[in-house]
Amino acid sequence: MTKVEHDVKDLGQAAEGVRRIEWAEREMPVLRAIRARFEKERPLEGKRVAACLHVTTETANLMRTLKSGGAQVALCASNPLSTQDDVAAALVAEYGISTYAIKGEDNDTYYAHIEAACDTHPELTMDDGADVISFLHGKRPEQLSEVIAGTEETTTGVIRLKALEKEGRLAYPIIAVNEALTKHLFDNRYGTGQSTLDGVIRATNVLLAGRRLVVAGYGWCGRGVAMRAKGMGAHVIVTEIDPLKALEAVMDGFEVMTMERAAETGQVFITATGDKSVITGEHVERMRDGAILANTGHFNVEVDIPSIRERASSTRAVREFVEEFELSDGRRVYVLAEGRLINLSAAEGHPAMVMDMSFANQALASEYVIQHQGEFEHKVYDVPTPIDEEIARLKLATMDIEIDVLTEEQVRYLSSWDEGT
Ligand code: ADE
Repeated sequence: MTKVEHDVKDLGQAAEGVRRIEWAEREMPVLRAIRARFEKERPLEGKRVAACLHVTTETANLMRTLKSGGAQVALCASNPLSTQDDVAAALVAEYGISTYAIKGEDNDTYYAHIEAACDTHPELTMDDGADVISFLHGKRPEQLSEVIAGTEETTTGVIRLKALEKEGRLAYPIIAVNEALTKHLFDNRYGTGQSTLDGVIRATNVLLAGRRLVVAGYGWCGRGVAMRAKGMGAHVIVTEIDPLKALEAVMDGFEVMTMERAAETGQVFITATGDKSVITGEHVERMRDGAILANTGHFNVEVDIPSIRERASSTRAVREFVEEFELSDGRRVYVLAEGRLINLSAAEGHPAMVMDMSFANQALASEYVIQHQGEFEHKVYDVPTPIDEEIARLKLATMDIEIDVLTEEQVRYLSSWDEGT
């Protein structure tokens, strides 16, 4: 394989990356079917794609799919700590995909990698957190007219892009993959639920049974974390700012209280809000000795680490991904993975089984925007329902699950208004 442009840790890790990418591929039958079709139909022929995603085994399978569809892909990391270095090596050495990502890269390198991906003059952007779109709008406005469309993977990114649209500054159309039901109902809920606890456990090896675990935010991710933590025997407390979500958490059987109160009683804290300063130094002052703080939201702003650092008399690394902050009275709190996404930093992100649907949405959304090029305004669009439904149908079929079909009489009944009791 000819070497492509890249900046990865060590190409010598490629063989291990290939084995792990193939392992994930076994759990991604929908994406495999799309890849087989893309190989024949080449819907992305010659299109330059800049993808800014977590560089995982699942992402590698998406990149292979885009390449099979004819795209020229450049991939960079969407988080400095989420890259799997063996996967990055395999993408370059085995699959011929330009990759710019190194686990633990500093902020300057992170942005240099985004720049490198944008140097390819993308016609399609694919984001997880909107960093490429934001970079192009802020630093490369002259390239915006070259972009046909973009896709966005995550809740945080969609929020940023809707803000850009509202200001009237969004310069090309976006498909909000996160809004597909086959994405957020599964990836955000079951994927985040499992992988977040996986990250907390791998980082700390603490027993969750019997522990008071506070989940901040009861969106789809928070729901998943709370549900799975309960299943492992934790006593789950939820904090919220939205009365409807708070009520839902109460009726799902969780204790709901303010973070100020939760800080006094919680033993493990997991933020999943998408907002900043959810846990601050002031909260930490109320915490019990040994409290563990982790974040599973997109950015590392949910736990205000600078304000915790200010109050600490000393800090030290006690395990990989675990930093101890000792307060002046001797109490200690432990912050995991620098407050970055715990599931992708200390574990491997969501399992391939759910990423199959998320990335099927990415692949089909890319095909869709190319097929319908020129038909969109500069707005944030949902994934078309027929694509969402097709992915659900395909996923069920790969699980050997059949469902019922409406009879003609039932179809008629559902479209009538005059038949009552
Ligand atoms: N986001 C969450 N889990 C992921 C994974 N396994 N791969 C890519 N992006 C992810």
